[in-house]
Amino acid sequence: MSRRRVVLASVEAGALLVVVAFLLCLCVPPVRATPAGAGVTEFPGFHGELPSKHYAGYITVGHEQQNRHLYYYLATSERNPTLDPVVIWINGGPACSGFSAFHHSIGAGYSYAENEDDYITNDTNRVVDLYDFLSKWFAEYTEFQSNPFYVAGCSYSGVLVPVLAQEILQRNEESYGMKINFKGYSLCNPAVDVDIENNAHVPYAFRMGLISDELFQSLVTTCNGKYWNSSSPSCQGNMEQFYMDQEQALQKLFDPKLGREKLHAKQV
Ligand SMILES: *[C@@H]1O[C@H](CO)[C@@H](O)[C@H](O)[C@H]1NC(C)=O
Ligand SMILES: *[C@@H]1O[C@H](CO)[C@@H](O)[C@H](O)[C@H]1NC(C)=O
Repeated sequence: MSRRRVVLASVEAGALLVVVAFLLCLCVPPVRATPAGAGVTEFPGFHGELPSKHYAGYITVGHEQQNRHLYYYLATSERNPTLDPVVIWINGGPACSGFSAFHHSIGAGYSYAENEDDYITNDTNRVVDLYDFLSKWFAEYTEFQSNPFYVAGCSYSGVLVPVLAQEILQRNEESYGMKINFKGYSLCNPAVDVDIENNAHVPYAFRMGLISDELFQSLVTTCNGKYWNSSSPSCQGNMEQFYMDQEQALQKLFDPKLGREKLHAKQV
């Protein structure tokens, strides 16, 4: 939770650029997103002037016959847009709230591909597209080229953001082409290591009071720290129990009518 707050604070301090990539087809022709035509001046239900300049549009990446149109939304800083950092926020996967479905073949949102096959992609291609997006975006929004630049994201973006950061640094070292004023990246609740994350479920559920002392001790003894894909039958049996107990405890937590009397309240 606190990590998320840090991210949002840095975002509030700067311009925020949201990219929703590879999402459902919005059946309108692509709009050339020059800043002049890209201004957003009003929202339904919001009266009065916006506190800073907003822009939205598409950047086309890929190449002929395989064009992909990435939608972005830019809210400039309410403080000092000429000096404040620019943050690109990259949406995560299905576990992340918000626009979601970044790494699903088709989801909800405004980005779309001209070629059906392009909805099936992989992380390597996504990073290539994101870099392509950035270089073209900065070519249209030249006024932001000198601002400090950050990449940020949650959840599944933990897979993409560090690789994009590396791509930016490598491209910056090439003598030709654009230099992005890259300063760092920020992740919240990121997917980084499937083994560490999956093995953390058991101790985490125990600390949250979702499973009993007895089951936890038994898991510790039978699984030897490797919970999620253990080959030991006694560990696997305990893990089946673990998933059932955890599910029940969560149902009680989210259904106030059932009460919480059966939860195993616990100190760390
Ligand atoms: C990603 O897809 C491309 C083809 O579009 C392929 O060349 C590449 O090997 C794939 N990368 C991975 C890691 O699967
Ligand atoms: C569990 O997954 C990890 C990481 O993917 C792997 O190194 C390990 O060999 C796996 N263990 C078993 C028993 O499959």
